[in-house]
Amino acid sequence: MKHNVFLKKGIVLLVLAFIVGCGMKSQKEGENVKSKIDSLIAKMTLKQKIHMLHGNSFFTSGGVEELGIPEMHYTDGPFGVREELHANSWQPLGLTTDSATYLPTGSALGATWNPELALSYGKVLGQEARARDKDVLLGPAIDIDRNPNNGRTFEYLTEDPVLDAELAVAYVKGVQSEGIIACVKHYLANNQETGRRDVDEVVSQRALREIYMPAFKAAVEKGHADAVMPAYNKVNGKYCSANPFLLTKVLREEWGFTGITISDWGGVHSTVPTAKAGLDVEMNGDSDYNNYYFAQPLFDAVKAGKVSEDIINNKIRRILGVMFKYHMLGGGSRPKGRLNTPEHHQKAYEVASESIVLLKNTKHLLPLDASKIQSVAVIGDNATRKQAQLGFGAGVKSREITPLAGLKNKLKGKVKVQFAQGYKEEYKQVNQSGLDDSPKRIPVEKADPKLIKKAVEAAKKADVAIVVAGNTRTYESEGTDRESLALPFGENQLIKAVTAANPNTVVVIISGSPVELNQVKTETSALVWSGFNGIEGGTALANVLLGTVNPSGKLPFTFPKKLNDVPSQANGSFPGENGVTHYKEGILVGYRWYDTKDIAPLFPFGYGLSYTSFAFSDLKTNKGVFNKKDTIQVSVALKNTGDRAGKETVQLYVHAVNPSVHMAEQELKAFSKVSLKSGEQKNVSLPVAIKDLAYYNEDKNQWIILAGKYQLRVGASSRDIRESLTITIQ
Ligand code: BGC
Repeated sequence: MKHNVFLKKGIVLLVLAFIVGCGMKSQKEGENVKSKIDSLIAKMTLKQKIHMLHGNSFFTSGGVEELGIPEMHYTDGPFGVREELHANSWQPLGLTTDSATYLPTGSALGATWNPELALSYGKVLGQEARARDKDVLLGPAIDIDRNPNNGRTFEYLTEDPVLDAELAVAYVKGVQSEGIIACVKHYLANNQETGRRDVDEVVSQRALREIYMPAFKAAVEKGHADAVMPAYNKVNGKYCSANPFLLTKVLREEWGFTGITISDWGGVHSTVPTAKAGLDVEMNGDSDYNNYYFAQPLFDAVKAGKVSEDIINNKIRRILGVMFKYHMLGGGSRPKGRLNTPEHHQKAYEVASESIVLLKNTKHLLPLDASKIQSVAVIGDNATRKQAQLGFGAGVKSREITPLAGLKNKLKGKVKVQFAQGYKEEYKQVNQSGLDDSPKRIPVEKADPKLIKKAVEAAKKADVAIVVAGNTRTYESEGTDRESLALPFGENQLIKAVTAANPNTVVVIISGSPVELNQVKTETSALVWSGFNGIEGGTALANVLLGTVNPSGKLPFTFPKKLNDVPSQANGSFPGENGVTHYKEGILVGYRWYDTKDIAPLFPFGYGLSYTSFAFSDLKTNKGVFNKKDTIQVSVALKNTGDRAGKETVQLYVHAVNPSVHMAEQELKAFSKVSLKSGEQKNVSLPVAIKDLAYYNEDKNQWIILAGKYQLRVGASSRDIRESLTITIQ
């Protein structure tokens, strides 16, 4: 017995010694790197230092060959490694070796509500970026969806800070675990493309802290992101790239960010204020490299004593710091990466198949039973549209399984598939918006009667019609906002005609953002939403429609009934006046607005159906009264009460009961995606730290937890609460 105790003590001591040893080793390594950095800086001329602080081609920034310091290689972007471009222009090089895996875009990832998938997603990107010999991946893109008509909604994740943060952290960890630096963008409040390069987003401190910052904060604090890209726009009067509050006070001093800040391309407007505010590297899409603000002008500013060399040294220190960390310098091996592997395509498929949202299935038309139908009419231009490289900005050179191809692959030899185009992607007006940004496109409203006629004929002859409509990545694009949320190209007319011709019509809407679906919702019994869903998007869609995959996507944003219901439209603050946009809705963004103002959305945040059903019961907390340092241990039982396996996302919203300050009606505080076999039941735990219920007090500039009663609401969407209970914070 005694012997055993000694043995145990011995083991504990050995483990402790090991831990201390490891700690000392990493401390020593840290000191080693620090002294290596100091000695490199001591050897560098000012010219050499400045050379490292700006682009020396469109997607590299300078190194110092004489000292063995490499260039930094960047690549877009958030949903796949972009094709190679000429060094000095945006023209593609036209290689045959630069295709990559096209992953579902941001809002589709948002719709999975699955951080594990976000981790795999990041890993795929990291491995592919390494295989293409890059150092920095310009992603994830994580701005909160304030405006559904924002051209970049498809790239961004969600309208909720908690969901955004969880996905962003996992994505960043995935990328960086493969030896690539993740550059989180666009910091901050890049919520519209109209006037994006100069618009001043005037946002209250409270909305910044509670809505727009949390995902960035989490990406830095929990994801340990090593790069951040300030946005083009201004926040509260200052360009993000020259904003000391954002870049130094919040990012470095409060969040402890030790990585590098890299400007958006062409997002720098001054030398001295930008250098002092905390930007490290200036990038641009301009080949006059020596005239960048951070090139000769910065050199001159240092010589003239307007910027101290210490400021320059700190920037170099940070760049060298990440270079050592990622073994770009100082030896140590870097992962080699892998490109376009079957495993990567499989991951893209998994994300796609968990992101598709079943919006309506009142007559149980879905899933289609292939053994009971002889013919299907697939109708709509989006059924054959490849989206990977459309639009302005980052795209991916990739093969792509379209919806039609996906359905044909699945139904081959069993069911006859006929295709009709139904409508054409056509614009009645294309207004150039200046600079190199994307033109504003106004789609035609009416479909071609001849195309409708052919579609109706095909629908009449088939057992089932599947209309695949929605937006395209040309219409939803970086650099431009949409004027309307209406379905473009006369799609409503087409859907009306086809559903009248064949009552067994399924409508699939492909878009990266909310669209107006009032008419479609009324006319159609089976309605599905898919994001721009990556290389295997068509396979995932076919599997959902045919029931091989049970849909489990949940909306990452509210689908409003009309554009005017959107807060920024209702309060007239979009797109702003004279280059200034006042975020008058404050913290009431997304569902917070609809729930607080009691405006019924068409489809609420967090909504999505399944082919099975789930019952919630037995909501419990570990106690009823909590202190401010506690964590509420919430648990709920979830049972799959239907006849097939499925996944449900359990969502926990918190409602402050009669708060003494303005609060949103409810806020998502925890969620968990759970997989259950038919008949299976699981206990789902949803811990919530009391500190996460705090609000940001602008007078005191601090987070405050209000004592009082809080209702915990658990359910299957923000408007489908199944169980609730009240706790007290003292
Ligand atoms: C976009 C960034 C992108 C950069 C480089 C900019 O126009 O805003 O998101 O990473 O271009 O392509």
